[in-house]
Amino acid sequence: MERLPFIAGNWKMNKTVGEAVDLVRELKASLAGVQGVEVAVAPPFTALYAVWKELEGSSIHLAAQNLYWEEKGAFTGEVSPIMLKEVGCHYVIIGHSERRQFFGETDETVNRRIKATLTQGLKVIFCIGETLNEREGGKTFSVIERQVEGGLKGFGDKKIENMVIAYEPVWAIGTGKTATPEQAEEVHRFIRGKLEKLYSREVSDKIRIQYGGSVTPENVKGLMSQRNIDGALVGGASLKGESFSKIVRFKEL
Ligand code: 13P
Repeated sequence: MERLPFIAGNWKMNKTVGEAVDLVRELKASLAGVQGVEVAVAPPFTALYAVWKELEGSSIHLAAQNLYWEEKGAFTGEVSPIMLKEVGCHYVIIGHSERRQFFGETDETVNRRIKATLTQGLKVIFCIGETLNEREGGKTFSVIERQVEGGLKGFGDKKIENMVIAYEPVWAIGTGKTATPEQAEEVHRFIRGKLEKLYSREVSDKIRIQYGGSVTPENVKGLMSQRNIDGALVGGASLKGESFSKIVRFKEL
């Protein structure tokens, strides 16, 4: 089954509004005419509106990095799915390991966030991945299984089709230590098998699974050549127009 490759840039807590607009202006120019790949950028909340305006007429999609599951109300500091839709978001990244690690996100809260996102008609980039300790303790597959089951609890086939999964081994994030294409593929294959068990072959064949963790123009092609790797969620290398454009244009490398 052909899955459309999907390259997304997670800018994390980087870029002022001015810097964000400059970067997307550059990306619009350098990615004009690129075909056969879906592209998204995830600026911080403060830059979403300005980036959305700058992206008008472009095929680059806008993503947010998190949200809260309620529609509105007394939740100081939080942002709702409706608010993100209003500023042009198409995707929301949910359950990133930095949120799990630093902000108390659990499989249960990830599940609530995914539910709220899908209910509002937004798409989800659902992040999972094991830590170095877990990998070294031989727990990679059990951790991934728990995260997939926990995050997707209660979703039927129809909803899950609006989801992209990002496998991001925590030990590879921001460390320069990429998983080898074979290491990543092994986990991607496991995730797809799990989706088949939970849903069906048809559904699992459709869902795109991105790899994230120190993706660069140098290693993207090897990763993308794997059968079950359908894209990349890029951190550091998405902060510069040149490196992100090269990653998006991986077929030409
Ligand atoms: P790096 O590409 O900087 O390792 O970050 C990966 C990531 O966490 C993307 O969400």
